[in-house]
Amino acid sequence: MKRLAVLTSGGDCPGMNAAIAAFTRAAARKGVEVLGVKQGFEGLVAGEFLPLSADEALQWGALPGTVLGTSRRKELLAEEGLEKARKKLAEVGLEGLLLLGGDGSFRYGAPFLQRLGLPFVGVPATIDNDIGGTDYTLGFDSAVNFTAQMVQAVRATACALPGRLFFVETLGGDTGHIALYTAYLAQADYVLVPKVETDFPAALRAFRRALEAQGYAIAVASEGVPDLRDLAERLSAATGCRLRFSATGHAARGAPCSAFDCYLGRAFAEKALELLLAGRGNRLLAWRGQVVDLPFEQAPPRASLDLELLEKVTRYWEERK
Ligand code: F6P
Repeated sequence: MKRLAVLTSGGDCPGMNAAIAAFTRAAARKGVEVLGVKQGFEGLVAGEFLPLSADEALQWGALPGTVLGTSRRKELLAEEGLEKARKKLAEVGLEGLLLLGGDGSFRYGAPFLQRLGLPFVGVPATIDNDIGGTDYTLGFDSAVNFTAQMVQAVRATACALPGRLFFVETLGGDTGHIALYTAYLAQADYVLVPKVETDFPAALRAFRRALEAQGYAIAVASEGVPDLRDLAERLSAATGCRLRFSATGHAARGAPCSAFDCYLGRAFAEKALELLLAGRGNRLLAWRGQVVDLPFEQAPPRASLDLELLEKVTRYWEERK
C-alpha cells in the first residue's frame, strides 16, 4: 500500500484541518494510507507520526487550528536534523508529503524536504496572505471575516453612543494585508499598515471629517505599525475624542473556517494528492481563480500590498464631496 504524509508548519490557520481531512479522504478513496506528522518539522525529525482515519477526519475537518500541531523551529532543519529525519523516514517508508505552511515553511522547510529527497507538494497556508504568486493563502479569508465582524460590532456601539475614536488592531505579521482588506470591506475610515508610513495630518483630516459626518471614526491598524498606541493617542488628543482600542489577537487565527477556506483547503489537498500519486513532487500550489501548480525552485517572494486599495481607504474622506 502506498503511504503519504501531511505536515503543518508555522502559524496554524483555519482551513488546515479542511485540507488534511480532504487529503486523507481522497487518499483513502485511492487505497492510499496517510500519516499525519505531529508538531510540524519537529515531528518529522523526531519520527512522530499519527495514522489518520478518513472517517474520523469528518469530525475535525471543519475546525480551525491544526489537529497535527505545528512548530516554528528552523534550527532543527540543519544537517543534524536532516540525518535524524533520514533515519526515521527509512523506517516509515513515505512516498510523498503534503506541506501546509507560510513563508518560513517555504523558505526553510521546503528546501529541507528537497535535501531529504522526500517529494512534496506545498500549499500556501497562513492568515497573513503574504505569499506571492497566489491570490489567496489558505486561512486569510477566515481571518478577514472574523476581523471584519469585529469592526462591524464596534460600529454598532459607535453608532449608538457617538463621540469616540476607535482603533481595531489586527494580526498580519509585518505585512498588513488583513488590516487592509478588512478596512476596505468594512468601510473603515482609515487604515494603518506596517511598511507604509502613516501621514499624520492626512489621518487627522480623515478622522475629523468622519467624526463630523458620522459622530465616530473607526481605524483598522495592523500589528507591526511603529508606535501605534502613541500615534492613536496623538490623534485622539488632536480630535478631542475619547480613544478606544480593540484587538482581535490570536482569535482571528483560530477563527471559524469560512466556506471559501473549507473549499480552498479541499481543492488544494485534492490537487496535491493527484500530483504526488502521479510522481510529480516538489511543486507549489497557488490559487488563481483555480488551483494551479508550479515547480518549487525557491520560496516565492512576499506578496506586496495592494496600494490602490490602500489609497481608496486612506483617501476616502480626503476625496469625499
Ligand atoms: O501565522 C501568522 C501570524 O499569526 C501573524 O499574523 C502573527 O504576527 C504571528 O503569526 C504570531 O505568531 P505567534 O503565534 O508565534 O505569536
